[in-house]
Amino acid sequence: MTVSVSMSVKAGALEVEHVVLELGGRPILKDASFTVAAGEFIGVLGPNGAGKTTLMRAMLGLLPLSKGTIRVNGAAVVRGNPSIGYMPQTRSGLAGRHVRGRDFVAMAADGHRWGLPRANAAARADVDRVLDLVDGKTLATRPLSELSGGERQRLLLAQCLLGNPKLLLLDEPLISLDPRHQTGVVDLVRRVQRELGITVLFSAHELNPLLNAIDRVLYLGNGRAALGTIDEVITKPVLSQLYGSPIDVMHVNGRIFVMAGDVEVDKLDHAHEDGPDGDSHAHDHDHDHGHGHHHHHTGTHSHDV
Ligand SMILES: Nc1ncnc2c1ncn2[C@@H]1O[C@H](COP(=O)(O)OP(=O)(O)OP(=O)(O)O)[C@@H](O)[C@H]1O
Ligand SMILES: [Mg+2]
Repeated sequence: MTVSVSMSVKAGALEVEHVVLELGGRPILKDASFTVAAGEFIGVLGPNGAGKTTLMRAMLGLLPLSKGTIRVNGAAVVRGNPSIGYMPQTRSGLAGRHVRGRDFVAMAADGHRWGLPRANAAARADVDRVLDLVDGKTLATRPLSELSGGERQRLLLAQCLLGNPKLLLLDEPLISLDPRHQTGVVDLVRRVQRELGITVLFSAHELNPLLNAIDRVLYLGNGRAALGTIDEVITKPVLSQLYGSPIDVMHVNGRIFVMAGDVEVDKLDHAHEDGPDGDSHAHDHDHDHGHGHHHHHTGTHSHDV
């Protein structure tokens, strides 16, 4: 059922073979196969509910596969895999926190076992390293509550980089950011990804903010997955199959618009979305444990991450 577009045959940072994923008895992915090469920056796209978050959680071992295999950096999926850094989709509640930026990052390094960061030289050095990587030194002394959404995203990225992961799973890092901050986050992730030579999966509602950064795109829809270059995947036939309805692709001034009739698809069901979703992971101590529900409002984007 996988839409056939050309795939990399290089050694995979991420090998997904005939994966079937089900939630509550419903198929989310019906048969997905693709290989992401080490060092690639992959944009993960697809409509609400296509399974972007679910697929990332499966890679983290938080969700069993119904069928198929996933290999991460050549090894079977394992829970708490230290070679994966994860930024979950839900980050609400951070804006109200008065913890200093540096302590916020350090908490993810130490865990919350004693409620206070352990004074451990190696852990401190790692915190310094990741703060440097995201240009976060000036944010380190400021309370989270006084940072902009984009600045908080930099600290969240720093958290993901603790422990030197080889693969980053970033779930909707652009949500609730205005276009200027979106560009800043994409550029930052791209720079860090190249500097460290790591692999990144970056999910997003919109393709355009990612256009200049990504190597390839992984598009999910209809239980299927298509991985390829933008020219290979963002096409009428591939997207019409993934949406299960006729899709048009328009190129305008270096931007790409994916249209269902006269409506842009990413405006269809992504108009409002920042509710609780997803679950916890080693580097993730700061969000609600919600129950994956989806909003289908047609209001404007909110900016409250
Ligand atoms: N615990 C669950 N039980 C049953 N269905 C679930 C559960 N969690 C999520 N789902 C459903 O699985 C589907 C895939 O959800 P997922 O969150 O992976 O989509 P997504 O592509 O990340 O969407 P979004 O763009 O909204 O983040 C959705 O239809 C969702 O309602
Ligand atoms: Mg999601």
